[in-house]
Amino acid sequence: MRKKSKFSKYFKEYKWSNIFAMIRNGRSDPMICSDDFAGRLVVITGATSGIGYHTARKYASHGANLLCINRNPEKSEALRHEIENEFGVICDYRIADLSLLKDIFRVSKELTGLTTPIDVLIHNAGIYLTKRALTPDGLEKVLVVHYLSSFIMNYILKEKLKSQKRARIIMVGSEAHRFAAWGLRPDDLNWEKRRYTGLKSYGSAKTAQLLSMIVFNEYFKNTGVTINTMHPGAVKTETGQENGPVYKWYKRNFLDKTLKSPEISAEALYYLGVSKEVESVSGKFFSLTTEEEPAPPALDRDAAYELWVVTLKLTGLDNR
Ligand SMILES: NC(=O)c1ccc[n+]([C@@H]2O[C@H](COP(=O)([O-])OP(=O)(O)OC[C@H]3O[C@@H](n4cnc5c(N)ncnc54)[C@H](OP(=O)(O)O)[C@@H]3O)[C@@H](O)[C@H]2O)c1
Repeated sequence: MRKKSKFSKYFKEYKWSNIFAMIRNGRSDPMICSDDFAGRLVVITGATSGIGYHTARKYASHGANLLCINRNPEKSEALRHEIENEFGVICDYRIADLSLLKDIFRVSKELTGLTTPIDVLIHNAGIYLTKRALTPDGLEKVLVVHYLSSFIMNYILKEKLKSQKRARIIMVGSEAHRFAAWGLRPDDLNWEKRRYTGLKSYGSAKTAQLLSMIVFNEYFKNTGVTINTMHPGAVKTETGQENGPVYKWYKRNFLDKTLKSPEISAEALYYLGVSKEVESVSGKFFSLTTEEEPAPPALDRDAAYELWVVTLKLTGLDNR
């Protein structure tokens, strides 16, 4: 039976003030942190392009060592060469296609085996698809890259991070989670029962990420580990390259002309990962570095726990 949309429930919870805040925050600059981060370890997914690339450079410029989780070996090697030569830090990498469950599990286990603490874990890798695509696991690709990859990594790493007594997890989310205005459909995460659109699937994956934050935040309470999600601004990157020529033309000729530099995203990700101001802040959504209230479907605790159970089953984590 088709599950009833919770739109009517959420509708009453929407506030105009949050929409105005989103618009206002979208025009703001990020807070700057100029503290040193020498010798600390930052794990970042998708560091070969856009926001991830600028963030990797930002952390390295303050002395941090990097462990990048990328899918492309040539780009990873070029990044290592560039960062190690320019900043004199370690820029190691692991190759993993974060749309494949086996790669996500493998790399997560490799991270649990690290003997050094992970100071900051940034889930950044992402894609935007205008057409529904399935992975070899039979899962909708946008959901896997944005949501399942960060969920599985956090889940497998949670004991290590807790034992460190200090770590910051930052998920690169998006204001576009607001496109899931009708709420998440845990019974149809794979988009088999509804018409797929790029904005709706992207919004749902980012909403799922925010919902998982509610549960992880409770797990990490009083452990020294924090977990937050941030919107990195509307910035010019390589996103959307998997789409057809019409989308790419539209992006190049219209979208890109309105977008800012991803250096602002890197500043914000550095601030959230390093600044003492946010040391014990957890379970929050930021637009760059300004705390903001997410849309009602992303604040639904019941939905968060329902999704948690569905996700454990979907990924096989419930049997491990
Ligand atoms: N740009 C914006 O305005 C904006 C706004 C809101 C949120 N975001 C979010 O910001 C994050 C970064 O996006 P971006 O705009 O910087 O896009 P981007 O330039 O396309 O960078 C995406 C990164 O993710 C990697 N990636 C993609 N699919 C992967 C996979 N299957 N396995 C491993 N790595 C994969 C890419 O690797 P390759 O280099 O190999 O392609 C690249 O390093 C995403 O989570 C996105 O949703 C961006």
